[in-house]
Amino acid sequence: MVLSDDISRFVRAAGPGHTEVQARMAAFAREHDFPNIGPESGAVLRLLARLTDAGTVFEFGSGFGYSASWFLRGGADRVVLTEFDADELDRGRAFMREAGLADRCEFEDGDAMATVERYDGPFDVVLVDHQKERYADAFRAVREKLAPGGVVVADNVMRGPIDFDALLRALEGDAAAPDADDDRTRGIAAYLDTVREDDAFETAVLPVGSGLAVSTKTD
Ligand SMILES: C[S@@+](CC[C@H](N)C(=O)[O-])C[C@H]1O[C@@H](n2cnc3c(N)ncnc32)[C@H](O)[C@@H]1O
Repeated sequence: MVLSDDISRFVRAAGPGHTEVQARMAAFAREHDFPNIGPESGAVLRLLARLTDAGTVFEFGSGFGYSASWFLRGGADRVVLTEFDADELDRGRAFMREAGLADRCEFEDGDAMATVERYDGPFDVVLVDHQKERYADAFRAVREKLAPGGVVVADNVMRGPIDFDALLRALEGDAAAPDADDDRTRGIAAYLDTVREDDAFETAVLPVGSGLAVSTKTD
C-alpha cells in the first residue's frame, strides 16, 4: 500500500460527495471492478477545471465518463471523451444524459491517440488515463495544443498496474529499474521523465487517489 488508508479516508471524508448520478457511476464501477479515478482525484479534477476557467478538456481514456463528470462539475464548458470500448462510451452517453450534461460532452469512439490528431486545441486541461506505455506520447501530442497556463494531469503515477518500488528506485537514480518487461511501470517512469525535463512545464506529484502528476504550462 502506497498511501495510508487513514490518509485516503481523511481526504475522501473531507472532500466533496457524489452527485446522484456520480454515486450510480461509482456503484457501477465497484460492481464491475472498473478502475475509475475515484472521488479524491475527482475533487482535484474539479479544482483544476475551476482554476483554469476551463473551456475545453480533453481526456485520454474516459471509460463511462466518471472523470469527465468531475471536470463538468468544475465548470468546464466541454469535455472530449475518448474511449475504444464502444460499450463503455455508450454507458457514458447514458449517464451524461441522465445527469443533464450530455450537451457539454463530445464522445469519441476509437483510439485516443488518433482522435487527438483531429483536435487543434486549445485545451485548458488534459487528463492522461489510458495505456500507461503511451502516456509520454499523449503528452507530446498535446503539449503544443495546451492553452497558456493549461494543465496536463496523469493518473496512476503511484498506484495501479505499476510497480511502485521500481518506480521509486528509478526516480532516485537507479538506471536498472524498472524491469525491461514491465511496460506499464516503464511507461509511467518515461512519462515522469518527459514532463519533468520539459522546460515549458512545472510538475507536481500529488499523493491523492492513485497518484496524480499535475504539469502546468508556463510559457
Ligand atoms: C482507467 S480507465 C479510465 C477511467 C476514467 N478516466 C475515469 O476515471 O472515469 C482507462 C480507459 O481507457 C480506455 N483506453 C485505454 N487505451 C485507450 C486508447 N488508446 N484509446 C481510447 N481508450 C483507451 C480503456 O478502455 C479504459 O476504459
